[in-house]
Amino acid sequence: MLYRIARSAIFQLDAEKAHDLAIENFSRFTGTPLELFYRQNLPERPVEVMGLTFKNPVGLAAGLDKNGECIDAFGEMGFGFVEVGTVTPRPQPGNDKPRLFRLIPAEGIINRFGFNNLGVDNLVENVKKAKFDGIIGINIGKNKDTPIEKGVEDYIICMEKVYQYAGYIAVNISSPNTPGLRSLQYGEALDDLLSQLKAKQAELAKQHDKYVPLALKIAPDLDDHEIQQVCDSLIRNNIDGVIGTNTTLDRSLVQGMEYCDEAGGLSGRPLQNKSTEVIRKMSEALNGAVPIIGVGGIDSAMAAREKMMAGSSLVQIYSGFIYHGPRLVKDIVNGI
Ligand SMILES: Cc1cc2nc3c(=O)[nH]c(=O)nc-3n(C[C@H](O)[C@H](O)[C@H](O)COP(=O)(O)O)c2cc1C
Repeated sequence: MLYRIARSAIFQLDAEKAHDLAIENFSRFTGTPLELFYRQNLPERPVEVMGLTFKNPVGLAAGLDKNGECIDAFGEMGFGFVEVGTVTPRPQPGNDKPRLFRLIPAEGIINRFGFNNLGVDNLVENVKKAKFDGIIGINIGKNKDTPIEKGVEDYIICMEKVYQYAGYIAVNISSPNTPGLRSLQYGEALDDLLSQLKAKQAELAKQHDKYVPLALKIAPDLDDHEIQQVCDSLIRNNIDGVIGTNTTLDRSLVQGMEYCDEAGGLSGRPLQNKSTEVIRKMSEALNGAVPIIGVGGIDSAMAAREKMMAGSSLVQIYSGFIYHGPRLVKDIVNGI
């Protein structure tokens, strides 16, 4: 109820301004009595995935807290895990504004942020300060001006810097807003990337005496053959997890709506079935070899259950959180 009232005020603002304001306030409220506005004490629903124990299976998806500024606030809301980032080696401003659009009748969002972030060093400092006792995933990417042939180097730089502080590392090769990035999802380029990251993981595990799982985040716009190829590569390279899915380029379910033709990735309810189908296909191809973190259009406990029935061990939310607020975390934790 409280969020419904707040939402009508927030939705009067420009979408990105509202986002910035929310992040600013969450980080300011942390540790003060104002936390009461969003604190939720949820029952423990522990689940073991990728060798880690998650206190519940509901996580915040990447992109909402790109710089890791509000980890504790999201912890207070009851998330079992928080994925921060995408972060790149060097800070970068992202694409020109406007770059975030609400498709309210469909409970969808289109964004073309383009990895705006303050850089990996800043993120690491924020993660070090966080008191959250759940799992923190750190989602890494490449700078826009790093040529795609050298993309692996950016992932390695980020991996080295975040390794010690991450519960798991998410490798984002599926954002539609960094030119060429999604080409890393195919054939030899994918095998090459994964084998190099896996070798780096082994080296860092030895150095820090700590094994940090690696999860690959993929796009929903892959055909059946491509899904099979990605899954083969995940198994071949012993990758610890897969996150499906990122945002889609498909606009078929939002035709005619305001902003539907804006460039960028579409998320929220119009992505729900598409991402569930990708999860189902991955689950068949992986046959239990690699756990799946399901994300895409989850807006209720039922939608979360569908993702789990399709083969996800954990779920994440982003757009559903924008439309329904912290209550959605509670509903899902209580309903699965
Ligand atoms: C505004 C916005 C920014 C996002 N930024 C990132 C990002 O930086 N890295 C990433 O891996 N995914 C990012 N995503 C994708 C989400 O993590 C998620 O995979 C996708 O939105 C589908 O989930 P949803 O339908 O619950 O929003 C972003 C999504 C939105 C809406």
